[in-house]
Amino acid sequence: MTGTEQSGARTLIVGSGFVGRAVAARIAARGGSAVLASRRPPSSAGAGAADWVRLDAADPAACARVLRSVAPDNLVLVHGPSDVSWCEADPERAAELHAGAAANLAAAAGGRRMLLVSTDNVFDGRSPENDEATPTAPANAYGRAKLRAEQVVREAQDATVLRVSLVYGWEPEGTAKWLNFFAACAHRLRAGQPVAAPEDQWTTPVLVEDVAAVTAAALAPGAPELLHLGGPDRISRADWAEAIAAGIGAPRDLVVRGPRAAGRYASRPANTCLTSTRLDAFLARTGLRVRGVAEGVDALLAAGSGEAALPEGVLPEGVLPEGVR
Ligand SMILES: NC(=O)c1ccc[n+]([C@@H]2O[C@H](COP(=O)([O-])OP(=O)(O)OC[C@H]3O[C@@H](n4cnc5c(N)ncnc54)[C@H](OP(=O)(O)O)[C@@H]3O)[C@@H](O)[C@H]2O)c1
Repeated sequence: MTGTEQSGARTLIVGSGFVGRAVAARIAARGGSAVLASRRPPSSAGAGAADWVRLDAADPAACARVLRSVAPDNLVLVHGPSDVSWCEADPERAAELHAGAAANLAAAAGGRRMLLVSTDNVFDGRSPENDEATPTAPANAYGRAKLRAEQVVREAQDATVLRVSLVYGWEPEGTAKWLNFFAACAHRLRAGQPVAAPEDQWTTPVLVEDVAAVTAAALAPGAPELLHLGGPDRISRADWAEAIAAGIGAPRDLVVRGPRAAGRYASRPANTCLTSTRLDAFLARTGLRVRGVAEGVDALLAAGSGEAALPEGVLPEGVLPEGVR
């Protein structure tokens, strides 16, 4: 089977967060079975149709034990830490949790196919475009840890590294943190609160459901060893926040435009953007499509408000919390 989803396959997904749960839902919807793994259980509403197993991927013995008990056909590595500021504060722990965990899982996987969800932070953000041939140059501890994890996974027998740009969508029900820019902005704007957004920090946002679909398809043998997945639009945070305001019907002047250097994205690269020389062919072969920002925002707003998913105190008034990507 080449580049198509493998109905009936059993997948161990290490990481039960925003992206991991969406991947589990996609696999289950296509007739596969997914087992989520993380140190703490996801809320039952967010876990959906997937089973869950406790795992600290930094523990080699625990990885071996879980691989034996779950006996998956393949693995998706989509665990944290994904908070850039947290990784900067503790680079050694970040490396242990990404590269160390990848090594543990690769050793325990016994040749099973693996897919690592990686990041545009393996680039320093100076170039507006980064395709699969662009030399890597991480500018932060998160990027360095993910790049080392990539190297570990690519040395494994049969693996794909899927570098993904900024992911957005509604956060899963009951989640403890709201970490994505779209959901945080939509909530703030709907409540009539301002959102400060830089007009000189550029991303290629990609809808979480599209990430899940491409991840599930790329699990099949024959997918490229390295694939970039960004959305088709390169957009500044400020323009994107205004697009969200327009979709909601909130006043545009709630979006406070400013320079990156003045705000909480000061430490982030100017560009967290991905392009690809391989994605179009992969999408054509698998019959998938990656939606642009206007279509993605419309689809999310049509699907529901997301308000019910916001527990008390998760998104306090004021500047967006540090963890928001
Ligand atoms: N979201 C994005 O925009 C984006 C973009 C590009 C790449 N990615 C990559 O996708 C991955 C996940 O992102 P996300 O947004 O889904 O993050 P998330 O919502 O923070 O979820 C991370 C998950 O990993 C688990 N985890 C953390 N440490 C673990 C460990 N030692 N062993 C097992 N599980 C562990 C967490 O649960 P516990 O803490 O309970 O263990 C949580 O379930 C990250 O590797 C990130 O690099 C994300």
